[in-house]
Amino acid sequence: MDPKMILIVEDDPRVGESLRLLLQKKGYSTLLASNGKEGLQLFRQETVDLVITDVVMPKMGGLELLEAVKALRPETEVIVISAQGTIEKAVQAMKLGAFDFIEKPINPRVISLLVERALEKQTLVLQNRDLRSQLEDRFHFKNIIGRSEKMVKIFDLIRHIAPYDSSVLIIGESGTGKELIANAIHYNSPRAAMPFIKVSCASLSEGIIESELFGHEKGAFTGAIASRKGRFELAHQGTLFLDEVEDIPLSTQIKLLRVLQEGEFERVGGNKTIKVNIRIIAASNRDLQEAVRNANFREDLYYRLNVVNIKLPPLRERKEDIPFLVQFFIEKFNKKYQMNVRGVSQRAMSLLMDYSWSGNVRELENTIESSLVVHTPEVLDLQHLPQEIREMKQEQEVISIKIGTPLEEVERELLLQTLKATRGNKQKAAKLLGINVRTIHRKLEEIKGDSLMKGKIIRSGE
Ligand SMILES: Nc1ncnc2c1ncn2[C@@H]1O[C@H](COP(=O)(O)OP(=O)(O)OP(=O)(O)O)[C@@H](O)[C@H]1O
Ligand SMILES: [Mg+2]
Repeated sequence: MDPKMILIVEDDPRVGESLRLLLQKKGYSTLLASNGKEGLQLFRQETVDLVITDVVMPKMGGLELLEAVKALRPETEVIVISAQGTIEKAVQAMKLGAFDFIEKPINPRVISLLVERALEKQTLVLQNRDLRSQLEDRFHFKNIIGRSEKMVKIFDLIRHIAPYDSSVLIIGESGTGKELIANAIHYNSPRAAMPFIKVSCASLSEGIIESELFGHEKGAFTGAIASRKGRFELAHQGTLFLDEVEDIPLSTQIKLLRVLQEGEFERVGGNKTIKVNIRIIAASNRDLQEAVRNANFREDLYYRLNVVNIKLPPLRERKEDIPFLVQFFIEKFNKKYQMNVRGVSQRAMSLLMDYSWSGNVRELENTIESSLVVHTPEVLDLQHLPQEIREMKQEQEVISIKIGTPLEEVERELLLQTLKATRGNKQKAAKLLGINVRTIHRKLEEIKGDSLMKGKIIRSGE
């Protein structure tokens, strides 16, 4: 790290120089100005971490400088030097936000200590601010996109339940944002500063899941060469996220239930009871009630987990979110890859909205990312989208036919609509319908003949 930069503003050159020498010896970089005006100019030009200023100076005094510094960069600390008879001014300086004041003659030990403390405080403030803005950036609802009624309701629910310690069960298809929601709950709760620990239950084999969750003692099993904390211990005072919870073996479920009920457990191979304070958020792709009915999931555990239930709707039930998501992802990848994609064409957007996203938001996000990376388009258009999505367009279109419609008519309607969807391309239509092109030609001739006939009949009936 670069040495900290200290700006000294003092009209008495002897005082200014000796301060400068002292601070340089301590390893700081220094700048020296002989009045407030000059000081402010330097402050604007350079990156200054700390200001030490005299009060009474020509052109611009220390208090005025202090105010200007605080207005420009509030996190910069200012130490005020007061001469005899200016003690009221020093008090006033404190009110204006000075870190502290020191009286002349300056005691080198006192000023060194003050400087150290001021810089320390500033580092802390900056670290906190960084953390806070990271939290806000990553986990505030503003990064979970959803304008649909269903999602807005979920946001309201999250805001409401986040502060409580109750367990939450999140159910949703793959890629609907379960983990994102779990994060949001944790980071909007009083536990935000404590750990958020995730366990992917599906990836852990029956043999190791208990040692992962509860930890183990040295020698508990072959390979346990040292004792190890489990995820429950790591998550103490924070939140434990049990992802794919339906995959926890039944034998482990009972132990899990005990932790949920009593907040205590033992490490594998240990006999010391460990107490933890944890909030549980669980997630599953499937409705757990089914697993309960099939006796793959303990009913008592289910009720323990399911205190708050959040059902994340698949993307196909909230198509109105798609344009916002697309926009959000374009901005995200513009930033990530330093691109300048301006937006999406109307027809590409309508295709994206019609597509059936079996992978939900994750699939949509990946599609946007790959389209941008592969083509770097100015505006994202149909030709930039992956082939399988462009092709799905035809397969996606639906015709509805009344029950009882004569087969012949059904066939004709299907043929005509398929041709329309392929923009008259008979080869493609034949492929989609699983017939050969000649058959299409023949059928079209029949239809033509038919309608000509009908036309004649109608006309002759006039
Ligand atoms: N509403 C949303 N707004 C913005 N991004 C979202 C939203 N929902 C999901 N995503 C993004 O989609 C991806 C998948 O989300 P996440 O991992 O939370 O889904 P999941 O339900 O846990 O999926 P899986 O069941 O496959 O584990 C992530 O990159 C996430 O950031
Ligand atoms: Mg997930």
